[in-house]
Amino acid sequence: MRETLEALRHKGRNVGFFSKNLAKVAPLALVCGIGLFSTGDLFGETLEGWIQKEEKFAASRLLDATVDHGDGHLTLVASADPNVPAYNFHWVRDAAAVMRSILYLYQVNRNSEIREKYTKYFEEYVAFSRKIQEAPNPSGGVGEPKFHPDGTPFLGDWARPQNDGPASRAITLISWAQLLIREGKEDYVKKHLYDSTLPTQSVIKTDLEYVANNWRISSFDLWEETKGKHFYTLMMERRALLDGAQLARELADPNAAEWYTQQAKSIESQLELFWDPTRHILMPSRDVEGSSSARESGLDSSVILAVVLGHTQDHFMEFDDERVLATLHALENRFQSLYSINHNPDIPGLAIGRYPEDRYDGYSTVSEGNPWIPLTAIFSQFYERLALHYEKAGACVMTDVSMPFFNQLLAGREEASLAPGVYSSETPEFARIVRALRFKARAYLSRIAYHAGPNGELSEQLNRDTGYLQGAQHLAASYATVLWAIWARRGDFPNPQQPSNP
Ligand code: NOJ
Ligand code: NOJ
Repeated sequence: MRETLEALRHKGRNVGFFSKNLAKVAPLALVCGIGLFSTGDLFGETLEGWIQKEEKFAASRLLDATVDHGDGHLTLVASADPNVPAYNFHWVRDAAAVMRSILYLYQVNRNSEIREKYTKYFEEYVAFSRKIQEAPNPSGGVGEPKFHPDGTPFLGDWARPQNDGPASRAITLISWAQLLIREGKEDYVKKHLYDSTLPTQSVIKTDLEYVANNWRISSFDLWEETKGKHFYTLMMERRALLDGAQLARELADPNAAEWYTQQAKSIESQLELFWDPTRHILMPSRDVEGSSSARESGLDSSVILAVVLGHTQDHFMEFDDERVLATLHALENRFQSLYSINHNPDIPGLAIGRYPEDRYDGYSTVSEGNPWIPLTAIFSQFYERLALHYEKAGACVMTDVSMPFFNQLLAGREEASLAPGVYSSETPEFARIVRALRFKARAYLSRIAYHAGPNGELSEQLNRDTGYLQGAQHLAASYATVLWAIWARRGDFPNPQQPSNP
C-alpha cells in the first residue's frame, strides 16, 4: 500500500524532524500526483560539496548514539531516537560497525586531543564488551545480540543467538589490537584484548573461541528474523578466524592460530554451497528452520554486505567473483522495479533494501519494507572496491555468468556490448569498465545525498514511495556506512585485513 505524506505525518513520528527534507523530497508529487522528483540535481549542491559537509556531520553524529552514564562511562546504542525506543540498546553488530569507523578516524587524525577521545571510546567499548560477554544471558553465550545500555542483557523475546555479532566484534577489535601493537602497546593488548590462554579472560579470544566452536550451529541472521545457516554470518566468522589466526601468531599462540585457520577453511566449503546454479545467485540462508516461504526470491543484500565486510586478502569471494556479480545484478534489478523512488530516471543511483519480501518499515513488521541507507551506502563502497580491485589486478575477467552484469553496467553508455573474455588494463574496454564502476559508486552516494536531511541527517530507511527518511533517526550504522562510502572514494577502507606475515 502506498503511504501518503499525510499518512506519514499522522504516524506522529518524525514530525518536525528533518522537515526541510520533507519539503524538498516529497514536494509537488503528493499534492499533484505527478512525478515525485522534478530535478535530478542535489538542490544546487554538488556531490563533492555535500560530501565535505556530510563527512564532518556524520563523524560527529556517530558518537551521539551513546548513552552517557554520568560516571564517565559511555555505551554505544544503535540509535538514540526517543521515538523508537526499541533501538536505544547496545547491539553487538551495530557497535562493531561504528567502532570500525572510529578506528579509521583515529588513524587519520593527527590531533592528539581527538585521538585521545577516540582512544577513550575504544577503552569504553572494550570494557563494555567484556562485561556483556560475562553477563549470563538467554542465549547462554556471546551470541546474545542486544543489551541494555547498563550492560544487562535484554530479557524480552528476541531472535537469538545471532552469531555474526561476536565475529564482527572480533574483527573490529583485532584491527585495534594490531594497531596498538604497531604503536608498541603489546602489553596492553595482552592484558585486555588477547591473552593467549585457555580458559581466556580476554575479549577477542572469548569471541574467537566461541566462533571456532559454534559456527556450525544454526543462529538468527543479521536481520534478526530467520534461523538457519547464513552467508553473511559465515563470511564474518571466516574473516574473524583468519584475522584472529594472524593475531594469535603475533602473540605467540600458534596452536590457536592453526585451529582458527582450520575452522576458517572448513567454513569456506560451507560457503560454496550458497551458490544456486539455477538462479545464478548466492543465497542468504540455508537449512532454514520454520517457515521460509516469505523469502522466495532468494535475494538479499546481506550477501553484498558480506563480501564487503568479510573481505580478506586471499581473494575468497572476491569482489569480481562471477557469483558475486551475478547476485549484485539480480539485486539491483529487483530493487529497481520494487521501489517507486527508483523509477525516476532523473535521480541518480538506486535505493537498495534488505530483501524484496521485507515487511519491516522501521516501526512494524506487518507493513512494507523500504530501501535502507546503510545498504545503499554499502553498494557504493562495493563499486569503488571493485574498480580498485581491477586496477590492482590489471585485468578484468568476464564470464558467461557475470556477462549480464557487465552488459547492464555499460548499457546506454557504449555502442557495442562486450563478449566474455579477459580485458587487460591496456584495452579501451578496461578503462570503460573502471570508469563505469566509479560512476555507479558515485551515483549510489548521490542517491543518499538526495534523500538526506538538510544538514546531512540520516535515518535507517527511506520511504519507498516518497523518499522520506523513515525508521530510527540518526541510526549510527547509517553514518558509519556512509562514511565508509565517502572514504572508499579516496581508496581508503576502515580496517582492511592486514597482509599476512610470511
Ligand atoms: C524486526 C526487524 O525486521 C528486525 O530487523 C529488527 O531488528 C526488529 N524488528 C527490531 O526492531
Ligand atoms: C535492525 C536490523 O535488521 C539489524 O541488523 C540491526 O542490528 C538493528 N536493526 C539495530 O540497528
